[in-house]
Amino acid sequence: MSNKGTYYITTPIYYPSSNLHIGHTYCTVMADAMARFKRLQGYDVHFLTGTDEHGQKIQAKAQEAGVTPQEYVDEVVAGIKELWKTMEISYDDFIRTTEPRHMERVQKIWKRMYDKGDIYKGAYEGLYCKECESFWTESQLVNGCCPDCGRPVEHASEEAYFFKLSNYADKILQLYDEHPEFLEPETRRNEMRNFINQGLEDLCVSRCTFDWGIPVPNDPKHVMYVWVDALSNYVTALGGPDDAEEYNKYWPADVHLVGKEIVRFHSIIWPAMLMSADLPLPKKVLGHGWLLLGGEKVSKSKAAKGMDVVDPVILIDRYGIDALKYFLLREYTFGQDGNFTNEVMLKRINFDLANDLGNLLSRTVSMIEKYCGGVVPAATTHDEIDEDLNYLNEYVEELDDDLQDVEDYLDEECECDDEDWEEDDEDDWCDGDCLSCDGCDCEDDDYCEIVCPSCGETVCFDSELDPENLLCPACGEKFGCIVEEDDYKAISEEE
Ligand code: ME8
Ligand code: MG
Repeated sequence: MSNKGTYYITTPIYYPSSNLHIGHTYCTVMADAMARFKRLQGYDVHFLTGTDEHGQKIQAKAQEAGVTPQEYVDEVVAGIKELWKTMEISYDDFIRTTEPRHMERVQKIWKRMYDKGDIYKGAYEGLYCKECESFWTESQLVNGCCPDCGRPVEHASEEAYFFKLSNYADKILQLYDEHPEFLEPETRRNEMRNFINQGLEDLCVSRCTFDWGIPVPNDPKHVMYVWVDALSNYVTALGGPDDAEEYNKYWPADVHLVGKEIVRFHSIIWPAMLMSADLPLPKKVLGHGWLLLGGEKVSKSKAAKGMDVVDPVILIDRYGIDALKYFLLREYTFGQDGNFTNEVMLKRINFDLANDLGNLLSRTVSMIEKYCGGVVPAATTHDEIDEDLNYLNEYVEELDDDLQDVEDYLDEECECDDEDWEEDDEDDWCDGDCLSCDGCDCEDDDYCEIVCPSCGETVCFDSELDPENLLCPACGEKFGCIVEEDDYKAISEEE
């Protein structure tokens, strides 16, 4: 396989404030598929994921749980790594922002920006709750009071460092003009242009009312405020910003895959930071849409309420890893939002996998057993259908159409007629040009009805399929968990 060069792809580093849900899984599964595809094509791939562990919110969560912030994140991160292991996510590196390798290197990036004259000390103005030592924005207040303790807030200002983001507005617009591929899809690029045109304000990059963060060089009573810390991970994980083998090899990144709500940070703040630090820019920021639950974004707070529907661990237990991955990749149009429900997922699994693909597989296997002594015969012709099969390998998104073509071929184009099949004589069978034929040995009783023991609905399925692998289209329970094979036979004999 030829080496086509390097390919560096990243996911966002997720907040380990609580367990991850199906939205995070969606992004990571897409990145994993892209990484695997590029490896197959012969690229030297580096796939990075990780966790964004600092900040006030995590500090508060740890306090609530009665543990140190480090203890808190260690536990959540262990669960995240376990999840990616179960999902067979092929990442090459996992960066945690609490690792020394990250903390030291972020300070170097900060210093480069500071030495450029792009970081200055100012005052952070906001609505302050003395009791909770927290700043709030107007919209976060509940009845004009602190959303945490309900006490009144007051205008206050706090010493803070700022990054001169406003200096970079023109340069970022120029970047979009000269390299439209830097930010995709195009709709996001237009949004960002509008956002910049309304005027960019300088960005607050340090805080001194909490200490769970990376100390600001030469002023350690300040900690860096989230985005400088978080965004830098893509460089620090490789050993940058200084010379380092991996950094020299893989930076700039080929793709930062991110959800649409953080496109702004990745396509405005991040390139501005890199320009300021005199570092090369990533080649592409790719924004994906959201999975919605009842029309609203699946989020950590909502996930807590409907966790069984959106907890990847539960979904894997029910449907299996491959089915979950296939569903996420197949169901949603890249860049757009889509509803996530048990029902959409089940339909996809039953129609595409259990029915179309499962049927094709079981038909093919039984033909091979019946007519070819269990050995796949050498191909004797090379037809369009073989092209379809090759194509099928390469393009998951075409799966539906190609499956249909293969099915149609089996149904219609096979040259042998029904009689050839009834005779159980291999010599009479067509010369191996075709692998299967439909409608010839299939009696009505190949389909049977089954009463789902779980919900009582009567559903119909192909009896060639193992009921154990099927999910009830009505309630989603696996038949196999409840139905013994004998029960199943008994039911179909009654028909
Ligand atoms: O934003 N649908 O972390 P985060 C689809 N730490 N994708 C979703 C989703 C949903 N409902 N919910 C989350 C952060 N995601 C920062 C990132 S990067 C330098 C720092 C995915 O835990 C999506 O990719 O809030 C989104 O951008 C990401 O999780 C946000 O994860
Ligand atoms: Mg978020």
